Amino acid sequence: MLWGCIELGKVLVTAAWPYINHIPHLGNLLPILSADVIARYYRLKGEETLFVSGSDEHGTPIEVEAIRQNISPKELTDRNHEIVSLLFKKWAISFDNYTRTESEVHKEFVRNVMLSLEKNGYIFVKEDELPYCERCQRFLPDRFIEGKCPYCGYERARGDQCEQCGRLLEPIKLIEPKCTVCGEKPTVKIAKHWYFDMPKFADKLLAYIEGNKRLPENARNFSLNLLKEGLRPRPITRDNKWGIPAPFAGAENKTIYVWFDAVLGYVSATIEYFKKHGDGDRWREYWFDKNARILYFIGKDNIPFHTLILPALLMATHEDYNLPWNVCTNEWLIFAGQKSSKSRRVGIWIDEALEMFPVDYWRYTLIAIRPETKDSDFTWKVFIEKVNADLNDTLGNFIHRTLKFINTYFDSAIPDPMDLDSLDKNMLSTIIEKVKAVDELLENCQLQAALREAIELSRIGNKYLNERKPWETIKLNPQVAANTLYVSAQIVKALSVILEPFIPITIRKLREILSLSEKFSWDDAYKPLPPGHKIKKAEPLFTKVRFSEEDLQSMLEKIRERTEKISYEDFSKVDIRVGRIVEAEAVPGAQNLLKLLIDVGDSLKTAVAGIAKHYRPEDLKGRYVAVVVNLRPRQVFGIESEVMILAAEDEGKIVLLEPSEPVRPGSRVR
Ligand code: MF3
Ligand code: ZN
Repeated sequence: MLWGCIELGKVLVTAAWPYINHIPHLGNLLPILSADVIARYYRLKGEETLFVSGSDEHGTPIEVEAIRQNISPKELTDRNHEIVSLLFKKWAISFDNYTRTESEVHKEFVRNVMLSLEKNGYIFVKEDELPYCERCQRFLPDRFIEGKCPYCGYERARGDQCEQCGRLLEPIKLIEPKCTVCGEKPTVKIAKHWYFDMPKFADKLLAYIEGNKRLPENARNFSLNLLKEGLRPRPITRDNKWGIPAPFAGAENKTIYVWFDAVLGYVSATIEYFKKHGDGDRWREYWFDKNARILYFIGKDNIPFHTLILPALLMATHEDYNLPWNVCTNEWLIFAGQKSSKSRRVGIWIDEALEMFPVDYWRYTLIAIRPETKDSDFTWKVFIEKVNADLNDTLGNFIHRTLKFINTYFDSAIPDPMDLDSLDKNMLSTIIEKVKAVDELLENCQLQAALREAIELSRIGNKYLNERKPWETIKLNPQVAANTLYVSAQIVKALSVILEPFIPITIRKLREILSLSEKFSWDDAYKPLPPGHKIKKAEPLFTKVRFSEEDLQSMLEKIRERTEKISYEDFSKVDIRVGRIVEAEAVPGAQNLLKLLIDVGDSLKTAVAGIAKHYRPEDLKGRYVAVVVNLRPRQVFGIESEVMILAAEDEGKIVLLEPSEPVRPGSRVR
């Protein structure tokens, strides 16, 4: 190999596509933030880097939430995709393409892959027993069902996977299952589905996992375990309407299981990127050229889908796709010992976080505590410590002292060094060592350790300044002070490169103060600032957090209350009227449903209400009730329910809300 002839490689960096049934919390952000750090790093290294991800819009997580909000899945994901895309921009996530699984390019690609799997003989049809909810009148796959995990006993395992032990499950095997929409115990019905013949890839997958030495311990061990327990065919179709239509003959009313759709997004997002940039075929360079590297950043519950299912799907096309080069898997970020949960108000959401502190404070803290080998606990105490001790007292302080001194005593010009002594020279070689160390750690996806090394460099810088005391030598021996500040400035310069992947917004500011270009490469960290180079006036890069842990928590709760409360304008959209029940009858086959015909003044409307256990149809006729009349109709047990009646619930007891005196039907309730 010739010196100076560096071969630039192609690197595709990807992050797990978040479900956008809700705004991500900090734990959901971790894989995306980690991927961003690595994408920025590879760009600095001069690799041809592409960073893609997108919104995971299909599947039961979305459907369940859409039902809860009484809107269509499409409305939900259109709205949330906008919100989430904007938030990622605010988090300085440098995606080259952040797309969505509803994109046409994606849907077409999935369709084609499915057809090639079928053509290659990896799809078979089978009839099997599946859980079915009589009340909701639907099959209960994936997140429509919850029960006890048959392996680890976790109480809230889902139909396709147990969140606790990570195993892939079959919904019929859940212990004490219930429907997540209505709580009913499911019955069992036979359904025909299309299956992906995973076991056919068992040997190749084993060879792949064993051969890929880069996989982190968690991803490797988990995958090997699953292979040892034995792979089973996975149903690839669903009876749900929301999703990508299954392209198999005879599967006209079925859709593709969300995971088999979403993991293919990594490919389709690359295709879409080059399509948009007029370079139609270049996506192949990333997916087929054997020297291209594809990195995946995921949370640990996503392991089997990335180390086994995605590789198997790619193999099954019989095209020579690149398999994952690395699957950088993080453990859980927990909050004061607990799992994030919107309803229990545990955790911090990525919109709330930015209302409290600048983005780099968060980026720094999250990578500094990134759970790499075990779960890690976010507390306000940790946050305060990271921002105050690391960012402010160590990094910020060192940079500020150095630049301020150069401003004051050297007229803002990098001083001319002369006769450096061994300590000075040592410091210069320490810079090189540290830059190399950070480089190697990032190459290994050890983000937390890489960040620690970078901060360590500023800690060493502080120590050096304390020992050299330029504020004294400037009077006694100005050349010694000049040497000290020359060396310190080189540390600052190196930091302004190697910290860019972690805290890009701060670094942009710092490089502005240093009068350095916005465009730079990793190797610039080794290039000294020349004597005489003029810098601008130093400004503090960080401010200390001067709040107690309790203050911070109550700040967060105030933000949350504000976002959770609805405005008067929002509420005024709800149109509530007095109605009079004209007819009431039981819904055949449903245990707790009554079909009501209600006079709401200008017309008669149908409501399907879950009150059969509390009211008899004959007692309801003629009663006045409060009715929400401007809801979008929805199907309940095959009947279109157009309006909703209001009732109070007290520990399972249901009591209808009724005007205290008869009022003309159609009167507005205010
Ligand atoms: N939406 C999934 C989750 O949040 C991750 C999908 S990753 C992809 O757990 F591979 F499907 F893209
Ligand atoms: Zn389990």
